[in-house]
Amino acid sequence: MAFIVFEGIDGAGKSSLMNALETALMQRGQQCLRSREPGGTPLGEELREILLRTEGATPVARAEALLYQVIRAQHVEEKIRPALKENRWVLCDRFTASSIAFQAGGRAISKEEIDWLNRFSTNNLAVDLFVLLDLATEEAAERVQKRYDDNGGKKDRFELEKQDFHQRVRDTYLQLAKEAPQKWLILDASQPTENMLKTLLQRLEKEKCL
Ligand code: TYD
Repeated sequence: MAFIVFEGIDGAGKSSLMNALETALMQRGQQCLRSREPGGTPLGEELREILLRTEGATPVARAEALLYQVIRAQHVEEKIRPALKENRWVLCDRFTASSIAFQAGGRAISKEEIDWLNRFSTNNLAVDLFVLLDLATEEAAERVQKRYDDNGGKKDRFELEKQDFHQRVRDTYLQLAKEAPQKWLILDASQPTENMLKTLLQRLEKEKCL
């Protein structure tokens, strides 16, 4: 049992790897909660709309940072802690590291301030492993574009950010992962999902989570 968070720039392919891990865990008879941020609870899903929409009022950078933390506090207390208490795996699409990468790295709020907010909103809940799906910003942008070409819909507020924003986000993730290799697994997201899954399962076995 473990709390695993999937991180990366938009378009890195978190969902496919999460699907693959969820299936592998179910085949091993493990129970798991699959969740996401922004979202995860009814309040979180409502605030997600506000954060991602491209029309209507837009939060300034510090308001944006706080809204993500509101969502997180609700998510941790209502969903994540109860699941961990029941010995279920928690697989979460984005968590505290997204706030560091996007709000500190992307929007230039200090990392120390975001760290403090993350500790407050999670009440110091520890993540067992952050999985970083690392991909060049150009390739990620192409994947996002293809998703919209194939499925329609409109890009969200972050997907519309320029490449230098996404480059800062990517660099911040890589920095975080290099500073704490015991907490992070960096995967080259240009590989097929099955290769990434294999590396991830090996790491989970090594950490005695499986
Ligand atoms: P998400 O829907 O997971 O986007 P994607 O499917 O492309 O991964 O997340 C929406 C956006 O919210 C994403 O661009 C990253 C951003 N975000 C932050 O800026 N800060 C945060 O703390 C979180 C959780 C997400």
